[in-house]
Amino acid sequence: MNKILSTFICALISTSAYAQSDVNLGIIPAPVSITKNNGNFVLDKTVVLKATGAEGAKMSELLNAFIVTKAGFSLREVRDLQANQKAIVITSVGADQLPEEGYNIKVTPNQILLTGKGAGLFYAVQSAMQMLPEKVNDKINIPAVSITDYPRFKYRGTMLDVSRHFFPISFIKKYIDQLAYYKINTFHWHLTDDQGWRLEIKKYPKLTAVGSSRNGTIIGHYPGIGNYLNEVKGFYTQNEAKEIVKYAAERYITVIPEIELPGHASAAIASYPELSCFPDRDTFVSDKTAWAGSKKGKQVQQTWGVFDDIFVPSENTFTFLENILDEVISIFPSKYIHIGGDEAPKTYWKESAFCQNLMKEKGLKDEHELQSYFIQTIEKHLNEKGRSIIGWDEILEGGLAPNATVMSWRGEAGGIAAAQQNHDVIMTPGSMGLYIDHKQSNSPDEPVTIGGFAPYQKVYAYDPIPKVLTTEQGKHVIGVQANLWTEYIKTPEKAENHAFPRLLALSEIAWSPVSRKDLKNFTEDRLPVHLAKMDKAGINYWVPTAIGQSDKALTGGEFTIDLKAPVAGAKIYYSLDESRPSENAFLYSAPFKVSVPQGEKRTLKTIVIVPSGRRSVVIETLLNNGAPDVKTEVKK
Ligand code: ACM
Repeated sequence: MNKILSTFICALISTSAYAQSDVNLGIIPAPVSITKNNGNFVLDKTVVLKATGAEGAKMSELLNAFIVTKAGFSLREVRDLQANQKAIVITSVGADQLPEEGYNIKVTPNQILLTGKGAGLFYAVQSAMQMLPEKVNDKINIPAVSITDYPRFKYRGTMLDVSRHFFPISFIKKYIDQLAYYKINTFHWHLTDDQGWRLEIKKYPKLTAVGSSRNGTIIGHYPGIGNYLNEVKGFYTQNEAKEIVKYAAERYITVIPEIELPGHASAAIASYPELSCFPDRDTFVSDKTAWAGSKKGKQVQQTWGVFDDIFVPSENTFTFLENILDEVISIFPSKYIHIGGDEAPKTYWKESAFCQNLMKEKGLKDEHELQSYFIQTIEKHLNEKGRSIIGWDEILEGGLAPNATVMSWRGEAGGIAAAQQNHDVIMTPGSMGLYIDHKQSNSPDEPVTIGGFAPYQKVYAYDPIPKVLTTEQGKHVIGVQANLWTEYIKTPEKAENHAFPRLLALSEIAWSPVSRKDLKNFTEDRLPVHLAKMDKAGINYWVPTAIGQSDKALTGGEFTIDLKAPVAGAKIYYSLDESRPSENAFLYSAPFKVSVPQGEKRTLKTIVIVPSGRRSVVIETLLNNGAPDVKTEVKK
């Protein structure tokens, strides 16, 4: 056998070896229940495909296209089955009894039966695609099983910030494909912020003519060392946004737009200065770089942070925002419109005679109540149009708007308070791993990030229902979300690196019952297969570090190094001589022992290199046998 062929076959064998031994059949998120039965369904060219109804026909097309890529042949589609004909059957008959978005899969030696309706049937197909092992001799052997599945939470979301950096439509679609594959059903699109307004609004063309570009961005971590002088720009036309809504809906994903107010509004104010309390004031820039603030007038911000120049709560502003929101709701059919509400400093409102008079006139005791008045005015308008608002947890300050749903990001406190007030809540606490702009390991190889520490294991460990809530209050937690802010994420590739595999962990905590959580199975059995697929699909996921490597310094004289590849087909290279490992270092093939003489230390450094050539960060473990002057804190 030539080398390329044998390597290829090894990769296939290793992929299917992971999947077939897996109690979850390689499915992410883990289904509610899987019962193994006797025998196998052998998928070969003789199998036919039968679907009922228009929905079934669409799903059968989807599954057949997948079978072509997996097996190299397509299945003949039939209207009626002969007696005992081997078939895959896709149906919504019997689905009325299933929970919302739920489905069943029953595999017997003669049939694969997928039952569901709407999203449920789509998810049945996603699971079926995930559980198909690799083919051997033109056949795919699928173990006989019964799967019952439905989601824990109805809201399973992820937010992408396209204001700090702009991402093209082609990338948004590629991203949505992945969300659908993992049963994430909400794409929260953060369209406006201080650094760019990204949605065409026909009534106010300057929002994009002026607000969608900025002159530069800081180099490196805030406050940066100067700036890129190239322009950062881009926006979505209404037709493009509608195209995304349709594309997502075909995959059972709702797009929720976010229009930030009253803060994070610099791009809008740069376009229409009359929206400011002080239209004639130059933009205040909070950073210390020499280039910032060198221009007069209102600016789209070029760096990050929280800015004092927020919307003035005037009739003119409300009319302006309501007109914008009317266009927004004509594009986005979602029940929810996200109106931001976070990080709105009250400095300008305190200084503004107009705001102070308004507060007296309306009987508002402080600026928090003024913010609440602002949000409630907007909520009333949206409620009248049949929509509901979501706001970040600051909308609790000064009193919650009557029908608002709260997105808890500053820990869980906001979510808990809102649920205790009988408001619906979406949990997305940054401190619990749900801010996936945070870094994924402590290796110095990690790219520049905003800070924080959120490895996928931390996402996986999170339970969105806080223990302090009663059962009734807990029902107000309608879901969970991971947020991808993009201050330090300039390209689709880096966005993918931040998103995956953390969104796979999110999908499991959003969908699977707590009793089905199993980090070891997720990490060692399922992720390796999924990441190998992502590798082939050209997704720039974060390559996990070697499984089994200690993230703590170890003490002793004899160490057994027992590692596992985190991606099917990946290789682990290691060094013990302080050099940085690469393909030129030792290739790990089996557990080995390291002896460290008394009073000495060694450093085990590893790197994982996957079939495409993508590589992990290098991590190291100190093996210490009483060496002098060695710090023994966590090193990774
Ligand atoms: C936020 O991270 N400012 C919601």
